[in-house]
Amino acid sequence: MANYDILGDIAIIKFVDGVSKEEKSIRARELMQQYKCVKTVLEKTNKVSGRLRTIKTRFLLGEKKKETIYVESGCRFKLNVESCYFSPRLANERIEVARLITKSSVKNPAILVMFSGVAPFPIIIAKHAKTKEIVSIELGKDCAKYAFENIKINKLENRIEHLQGDVKKVIPKLLKENKKLKYDFIIMPRPNLKETFLSQALGVAKKNSIIIYYGFSPESKKQTMLEELEEEAKRNKRKIKILNCLEAGDIAPYEHRYRIEIRVLN
Ligand SMILES: C[S@@+](CC[C@H](N)C(=O)[O-])C[C@H]1O[C@@H](n2cnc3c(N)ncnc32)[C@H](O)[C@@H]1O
Repeated sequence: MANYDILGDIAIIKFVDGVSKEEKSIRARELMQQYKCVKTVLEKTNKVSGRLRTIKTRFLLGEKKKETIYVESGCRFKLNVESCYFSPRLANERIEVARLITKSSVKNPAILVMFSGVAPFPIIIAKHAKTKEIVSIELGKDCAKYAFENIKINKLENRIEHLQGDVKKVIPKLLKENKKLKYDFIIMPRPNLKETFLSQALGVAKKNSIIIYYGFSPESKKQTMLEELEEEAKRNKRKIKILNCLEAGDIAPYEHRYRIEIRVLN
């Protein structure tokens, strides 16, 4: 009848079509009884949408609020569940990426996180991996406001530089300030939109940089997605090697999120 996510003290339920108001209230009450930490129950009324990947919600039960504090891998994240994209289902990805960085042979790597939202990837990487600077870029103004706050809450002001804006504008600006700017790891928790943003990543990649690219596709089109990435790299006069393509959750029936680990070869 419904699935749900719990973000701190807010539960967000997505009902299938045709569920009555009464049934929704009963489910909301049950959730509150089941999870003592839940103070607010909201209904998700649309799919993640737009460039900012946000949702709309309707209040069902408890305290009327949309802001919460969520704890993941020992870090705290303040966010508004409606104005910011945040998925607790990516928790495993974030800690896995931090581990991957720790395991690499590069000492104190420089990291770029594109599409950083309220900054969970930069913060978890900074807390769990030894790195040089981490640069974090996010388009959404509200998301970026929380990202700045979260960096402070987790006492990482001297490890993470957060920038608000479109990666297509921010990266060229950074390159103008420093023509030699390159990162060892470029993390791309992309929005599920057509644009790949791969050329922006390649613009700040050096030989042997690793790009962690999140792509969305049904299993049957996975190979095409990988070939298109190789083609796009070629058009940018770069050679890449796909090291790994791992399933990282479903976003719809038969539609998967893949974590694609890419090495830049030239
Ligand atoms: C799938 S969400 C990932 C958020 C975050 N990394 C996380 O793990 O929760 C994608 C994010 O990319 C941001 N975004 C979309 N287009 C962008 C762009 N051109 N430049 C920078 N950020 C962008 C959206 O606002 C959204 O927060």
